[in-house]
Amino acid sequence: MPLKISFAAPKLPKTGAVAVGVLEGRKLSPSAAALDKSTGGLIARAVKQGRFSGKTGQILELVAPGGLGNSRILLVGVGKPGALKDLDAESIGGSLVARLNGTGEQSLTIMVDSVEEFSQAPAHRGALYALGASLRAYRFDKYKTKEKPDDKPSLKSITVMTANPAVATRASAALQKVAEGVIFTRDLVSEPANIIHPKALAAEAKNLEKLGVKVQIMGEREMRKLGMGALLGVGQGSAEEAQLLVMRWNGTGGAGGSAAKKVAAKGPSAKGQGPVAFVGKGVTFDTGGISIKPAGGMEDMKWDMGGAGVVIGLMRALAGRKAKVDVVGVCGLVENMPSGTAQRPGDIVTSMSGQTIEVINTDAEGRLVLADALWYTQETFKPRAIVDLATLTGAIIIALGHDHAGLFCNDDKMSDQLIAAGKGVGEPVWRLPLAELGESYDKEINSDAADMKNVGNRAGGSITAAQFLQRFIQKGTPWAHLDIAGTTWASKDKPTVPKGGTGFGVRLLDRWVAENYEK
Ligand code: BES
Ligand code: MN
Ligand code: ZN
Repeated sequence: MPLKISFAAPKLPKTGAVAVGVLEGRKLSPSAAALDKSTGGLIARAVKQGRFSGKTGQILELVAPGGLGNSRILLVGVGKPGALKDLDAESIGGSLVARLNGTGEQSLTIMVDSVEEFSQAPAHRGALYALGASLRAYRFDKYKTKEKPDDKPSLKSITVMTANPAVATRASAALQKVAEGVIFTRDLVSEPANIIHPKALAAEAKNLEKLGVKVQIMGEREMRKLGMGALLGVGQGSAEEAQLLVMRWNGTGGAGGSAAKKVAAKGPSAKGQGPVAFVGKGVTFDTGGISIKPAGGMEDMKWDMGGAGVVIGLMRALAGRKAKVDVVGVCGLVENMPSGTAQRPGDIVTSMSGQTIEVINTDAEGRLVLADALWYTQETFKPRAIVDLATLTGAIIIALGHDHAGLFCNDDKMSDQLIAAGKGVGEPVWRLPLAELGESYDKEINSDAADMKNVGNRAGGSITAAQFLQRFIQKGTPWAHLDIAGTTWASKDKPTVPKGGTGFGVRLLDRWVAENYEK
């Protein structure tokens, strides 16, 4: 059951849990002061007593005293006057949910005070609390059939009390559409590979037609006609048929119309007048193929479709909030299995671009899938910019760990835009080197037998993977590659991201589109 969230004009609630702000230095907000009065000084005493000082994100939970109808009072640190960042507000919303879900509490009221000590307008801050709450309340529990009620999250509803509740409701609606996109992505990456195989993933995306997204699905026959030998080679060992998923959201009302031309001027050094394109790696399970992976941890490879998951969730977010932009999402969906029909190390395949590839390692399959998906996208849509997303290399986890995704980009302006968008939403990316064709890292993937091979040596594995992709980018097309192998799945909770599938990338690209293509 999703958390129910509503907004109302400020009034202290008579029941349930209530959260009020305390500024750094133990200074009570007006709501906290009001509660202090009705509890005979309980709040002031509580903040004097311990380490809680009102620092951003601190929470002090009190059981409400007799005489008050409420069950709990939560004092929330909102930091130094004027210093609360948007991401801090989201985190507070998320942390309150996490704190209460194990207590049995069912309803929470968050008091948003209208005082000048905040950098956000109250309605905006209220919407951010709600966004953080929704994102943290996510849970993938559909296959848990025996969970006891006491082990289930208890919180059912949140009321955010703020000035201008109508404004907050509207601001929240757009943010919640993005949250729905994130949650859709989390669901897709969490599903096991026996449920989400290529056709099932395409069918999930087909549901976006309800939101006005045009969805086209191609099978192996059509891909063979298009000459997609690289993608098809990856799927040839699987009993599940590979699919090419093409999603279009036309939010400007007429491609090439005046709105489309206007935004083109703002994009990176773009020549193309087409849509903004997103391309996703959708390997629904990656065994490694004949170059098979070790057993330990192989179950993680159910989320090797994380790039496609983000592209699908992003389309849902953009269509959901009716973004004024033309966008396409293209995903190569395939299962990488070893079998009597599987491709072998040493096989040479011909990609849609005409370039030939010697497959040295069948476990370097993501780049083979992307090679054809990227080429198809450019030939079909002449996009003004392309971003691809892929759980592409284990090496990116060694380089960057789990907090930043790897960014590779052939356009400095686009790179700066993506870095800024990532910082803004708490999905940071870190740029790594990309060499020109024929230079340094690029030479590593030259082959003796074909135009290129699909792996370099171990050194700089994420970079040579990006170099491989770059060989399928046409001259003059601004392009960024996000290696999300380290950020797609989390083993630890964060304030707005419970452990498991993160949806990392949806908010980042939604923000990037909003900041650079919708104005
Ligand atoms: N899907 C994997 C990369 C990966 C590893 C994602 C760990 C998430 C967690 C990819 O297809 C792969 O197997 N890459 C190889 C490339 C190598 C053979 C050059 C790798 O990273 O080991
Ligand atoms: Mn692999
Ligand atoms: Zn893979």
